[in-house]
Amino acid sequence: MHVALTGATGFLGLRLLRRLLGTHPTVTVLAHAGSDDALHRITRYFELTGSPEAFIAELPRRLRVVDTDLGQPRLGLSGRAFQELADGLGTIWHSAGSINLEGDLPELRHINVEGTRHVLELAAAGHRTPLLRHVSTAFVAGSRRDGVAYEDELDDACGFENAYERSKYEAELLVHAWSRKHGRPALVLRPSILVTDLPPHPELPSHPLLVIERILRDARCAAELAEPAEPREPAESARPAQPAGPGDPGPGGRPLVRTVGHPRGRLNLLQVDHAAEVMVRLAGLTPSGGVDTYHVVHDRDVPVPTVVTLLERLVPLSIDLVAAKPETPSALEALLDFYPGMTAYLAHRRRFDDTRVRTRLGPTAASAPVSLDYLWSGLAPRGRPLAPAPGTAPAVLPSARYA
Ligand SMILES: NC(=O)c1ccc[n+]([C@@H]2O[C@H](COP(=O)([O-])OP(=O)(O)OC[C@H]3O[C@@H](n4cnc5c(N)ncnc54)[C@H](OP(=O)(O)O)[C@@H]3O)[C@@H](O)[C@H]2O)c1
Repeated sequence: MHVALTGATGFLGLRLLRRLLGTHPTVTVLAHAGSDDALHRITRYFELTGSPEAFIAELPRRLRVVDTDLGQPRLGLSGRAFQELADGLGTIWHSAGSINLEGDLPELRHINVEGTRHVLELAAAGHRTPLLRHVSTAFVAGSRRDGVAYEDELDDACGFENAYERSKYEAELLVHAWSRKHGRPALVLRPSILVTDLPPHPELPSHPLLVIERILRDARCAAELAEPAEPREPAESARPAQPAGPGDPGPGGRPLVRTVGHPRGRLNLLQVDHAAEVMVRLAGLTPSGGVDTYHVVHDRDVPVPTVVTLLERLVPLSIDLVAAKPETPSALEALLDFYPGMTAYLAHRRRFDDTRVRTRLGPTAASAPVSLDYLWSGLAPRGRPLAPAPGTAPAVLPSARYA
């Protein structure tokens, strides 16, 4: 059955596309109208990640690119083009969206909620009743910071850390309402934070931690703080609180940032290629008939202090996790306070239950550990060695793997 994919040029979408091309002779790419040439970007991804030349040469024939705008009724297509598109589809993967953690609610609703509504209308219009695969996020669990988030939960009882989470929650509600109204099955896939060890490249979409790194770097520049002399010892969960006043430099002369976080906090980070593989395998299971929701997550969380260490190695800052917001923030801390939707995650300790995934896919659903070296490789500019913690040997970096 013919398959269509929204968001095929995205960080996750490119990996989903790679998988879908493994099992489908052709794929319809519902590209972002007005954005850069989708076929060119997709081709560059496959070139840069070393796909065989014969495979790449076939892409123009195997990909049918249709320009669409998620935010517009009928995805911006004429009534006729919309119906023809719908009638030709057996499966729709909806991965497009805005992952702007600091975006405002109207903007995020426009893309993530209205966009999902329009994709659902496409799925409803198709006379072959296409199957729907909706990419959500584990973070629809919202602001609940402790305990366990289960796959069958979907409520707003704890509120949300940011408008992105709320918009994805509202989009999932639409999927449930659509499934009930039309008596159709739907697959909801909830990945956690997706990461890669592929070094950043200007022609590839970046992953969410890179956005955090840029924000820290920009804030540091904006606060006109001095460059560091030496790297400092990385944060540790047991590190005693360091007395510091607003604007004080941290160890090694690095500007100190006190940010609310939990020393035993943890974040779920999953390799994006593994996530795409698991998602496509889940899509191959027999649907229940209603909405089947899966947490596509790592079985081991990454401790927040590891993430802090990573950020400290990327940006010349010294980050201290504190229990409450400083009463007299430095200029840099005040700047970073504009990003509460992002820094909130440093205080998270909850776990995502993925019993359904493990039950259905077995032990092969588990992925390799996400280590500090792995994360560094996917964030550091190409060829930049991992700064060793004092007294340790430099880490050996995987070589940059661009063809
Ligand atoms: N990345 C993560 O860590 C993560 C974690 C959990 C869940 N998710 C979910 O996974 C999905 C994919 O995320 P991603 O990381 O691949 O995001 P991404 O790299 O930002 O890609 C977003 C995709 O959506 C397309 N798009 C944006 N606005 C559009 C519009 N108005 N009309 C049509 N297409 C539009 C983009 O096209 P252009 O590139 O042409 O603009 C791009 O292909 C999202 O639903 C996200 O919520 C992501």
